[in-house]
Order: sequence, then structure tokens, then C-alpha cells
Amino acid sequence: MLYIGIDLGTSAVKLLLVDETGQIVNAVTKEYPVFYPRPGWSEQNPDDWWSACTAGIRELTAGTDMDEIRGIGAAGQMHGLVILDKNDVVIRPAILWNDSRTEEEVWYLNHIVGEDKIADYTANAAFAGFTAPKLLWMKKNEPWNFDKICRIMLPKDYINYKLTGVHSCDYSDASGTLLLDTRKKCWSKEMLQICEIHECQLPKLYESFEVIGSLCHKAAKECRLSEKIKVVAGAGDNAAAGIGTGTTGEGKCNISLGTSGTVLISSGDCRMDPGHAIHTFAHADGTYHLLGCMLSAASCNTWICDTILHTSDYAAEQRRIPENILGKNHVYFLPYLMGERSPVNDSNARGSFTGLTMDTTREALVLAVLEGVAFGIRDSLEVIKSLPLSVTKSTFCGGGAQSPLWQKIFANVLHMPLDMVKTEQGPGYGAAILSMVGCGEYRNVKEAVESLVEITRVIEPDPTLTEQYELQYQKFKKIYPAMKHVFLELRSFAL
Ligand code: XUL
Repeated sequence: MLYIGIDLGTSAVKLLLVDETGQIVNAVTKEYPVFYPRPGWSEQNPDDWWSACTAGIRELTAGTDMDEIRGIGAAGQMHGLVILDKNDVVIRPAILWNDSRTEEEVWYLNHIVGEDKIADYTANAAFAGFTAPKLLWMKKNEPWNFDKICRIMLPKDYINYKLTGVHSCDYSDASGTLLLDTRKKCWSKEMLQICEIHECQLPKLYESFEVIGSLCHKAAKECRLSEKIKVVAGAGDNAAAGIGTGTTGEGKCNISLGTSGTVLISSGDCRMDPGHAIHTFAHADGTYHLLGCMLSAASCNTWICDTILHTSDYAAEQRRIPENILGKNHVYFLPYLMGERSPVNDSNARGSFTGLTMDTTREALVLAVLEGVAFGIRDSLEVIKSLPLSVTKSTFCGGGAQSPLWQKIFANVLHMPLDMVKTEQGPGYGAAILSMVGCGEYRNVKEAVESLVEITRVIEPDPTLTEQYELQYQKFKKIYPAMKHVFLELRSFAL
């Protein structure tokens, strides 16, 4: 039997066709644009997602016996606000997870309503990029759109809605809306009141592996698939990556290096970081996880290569970096190209190079970018360890995690071994696994993960390099606190 895993990412949708033994039979990627209409804004057209998905599914399954395909699971970029009117027409472009326009609304939620109250209602503090502040922003800035809202959904739920006609959301993705009472797994009445929305505008909630319906006639025709195919609720991309890398049960860690960079710790119960720097979200196996998210990770490398150096050959750029400057770079990079979420929660933070001298080379700058991203993840990991939680190793997935140089830097900056799994496409693979569970191929997520997820290689830290990176991290840590107020001033200047 075959299963389709969809990963609705920020730069592209990645589709996998997987058999019940976990073998990837085919993979297709379709890109779509992101729009940045103003500094700090980030939007996409939901119809671009749908066109990419249908074209991608047709390509993925061409030549396949359609009766073999049994289920679909979707994972997706979290927090994005998609709104539909009473005729099911998308009202305005989706506002994405890395959009920072809601600074005022976040301030209102955390300081006027109060961070403790918000955390009491949802298990999280407010962050720019979460869905609830976007609704408040829209109420104030686009009341004509706010008044038309009939259905509120997250990006992958828009795809599920187009596939099945069912307005659904799973608990992992719903946790990132700041509208869910994550502990009780129901919509928070208080948050609905604060945002002036009604439960009937929100999707029905499911566990990630539960079937929400079958393909509707129109979608089956567009995708050239059978109407018998079942669709599960799916998950937020990080939760799905957790499943795809076997990060389930107590205290396991996965680091994902995509457009965003995340560190996810699976947890049997609903734990909270008292400082709220790290999110408390439901997991896709029915339990919970803690998540630290940096807004620009592999995208920092894309930025320096594409925009600054005008090269698309990232591997060649990294090969130019001499081994002997690792751990000795005197240039530092703050990776806050879109502001930052975890752990600093500062939409005004900006990227910056520090420590440039006349002998600074192109290689040193590229290396500083790669190192800055690893130091940013280390910042979140430090908070997690202080909870206290013991994290001694991690899986490592996502496009950026395929770079041998970045693997080495991460293992040494984080001072722990990194397990590489068979497929780097954690979210899509996890989504396919969820659909296998929903279709009864496995009894539960745990059983599926134990049978399907395979560690193929371990990246070990090197004691000397770890020591050098420790010294560098201690210096890196001092840069943001020194710059914080400058960033605020730069921002007022830009207004
Ligand atoms: C997680 C987050 C990002 C997006 C990007 O909180 O915002 O990882 O899900 O895909």
C-alpha cells in the first residue's frame, strides 16, 4: 500500500510517496513565492499552495496503480492565518509564521492582558507570528476583511479543506494559534473573547493521526486520485518532523534546519518553560513537546549566498572554507533577519556582523552565518536544559542539515552527537507515517515510528573543536544584549 506525505513549507511543498515499509517510492518538490510587501511582513497566496500540491501530487503518482494509494497526511508551516469568506473564497493573502507586523498586539497580549494570564489560557506567551495576534491586527487594520471571516484555518488545514471539504485542525498545529487551551485540548473561551471571534469560525479539532474524511470529488479529479483515499488531520511541520525522526516518548530531541530552525523535545506530559521563551505544544502522537524556534536558519545561508554573493552553489561556497578556521573565526553573525522568536521574543532584532577587520574574508563571513545559526539554536537549548531537562543527543533533519560542514558545526557548538535519519524530509515522512496510522497500517504512532524510522549515521563532536566553540559561544552570547537597544532605536528611525 502507498501513502502520500505532504510538507507544505515556506519555500516549497515537498511531497513523498511512501510504501507501508517506509520506503520512499517517489519525491516531488514544487516551489511558490513568498511576498514581503513591507519590512517584517511575510505573505503567501493559499491558491499557490493548492496549485503546487495538485500539480505535485499528479507528478508524484503518475504511473502508479491508483488502488494502491490508501492515505494522505499533510504537515505544514505553522501559525499562518488563512481566512475564508462565506463563499469559501480566500479573503486576503495568508500572513505567515515569520511575519512580525503584530508587535503592538503582542505587547497588548503580554503586557495589558498579561503574559501569565495568556499562559494560563493557552500554556504559551504571545509571540509575533502566532495566529491570535494576527487576528487582533486584522480587526484593527483591516476591519473590512475581519468582518468577512467565516472560516479561520492554518496553512496545511487549507490543503486538507480543499482535499476533503472538512474544516479541521490537529492539536499540534492548533497549539501555535494561541487560541487553544493546550493543556485541555480545546479552544480557549477567553482567547476567543479577547480576539472577538466565535468557535464556529474555528476548525474541528483532531489528533494528528485521526482520519478527517476522504477525498472529495473535485479534489480527486484535480489530483487524479481515487475518492476512496483517506486524509488524516496531519500536524504542524515541527511535530510531524518529530514523528518522521522518531522523536516521541519522553525527553527525545530533534533539531530541524529549514527556513526556520527548531529544537523540539518530546514530553509525556504538558510541561512549561516558566519564562515562556520555549513553546508548549501538543505533539502529533497524542502527547506534548517543547519547541524553541528561530525565525531565520537555513534562510540565513540562502540570503548570504543568493542575495549577497549571487551564487546558487551553496556547497561550493562551503567547500572554500578552510577546515583550520573552524572554531577560530573572529567574525560573529546575529541571525535575526526576520526578528527573533526563541528565546529572545524580539521582532525588532536584526541580523548583524560583528568583528570585521581588514583581513576578513568571504569565507569567514559565510562561516560566521553558519555558526550564528548554530549559536542561535544553542540559545534555545540552554533554556531547555535549564528547565531542567537533560538533552544528550539529537536527531538532525531539514535541508540545511544535509550540509557536512553545518553538521560538524552543530555537533560541536551543541556539544552532542547528532543522529542522521534515512530521510532528511522529516515533516513529509512524519505526515506519511501519520496517514499509515490513520489507515490502520500500524496500531499507533509509537509502533509505526519503531518500525519505520532508521538512524543511518551519527555525527560525533570533536573534543578540541567543542572547546573552541564553547569559548566562541560565550562571546556570541554577549552580542545581542549589547545590541538590543540599538535595534529598538534603528526601528524607531525606520518608522
Ligand atoms: C514553529 C514555526 C516554524 C514554522 C515554519 O513555531 O514557526 O518552524 O512552522 O515552517
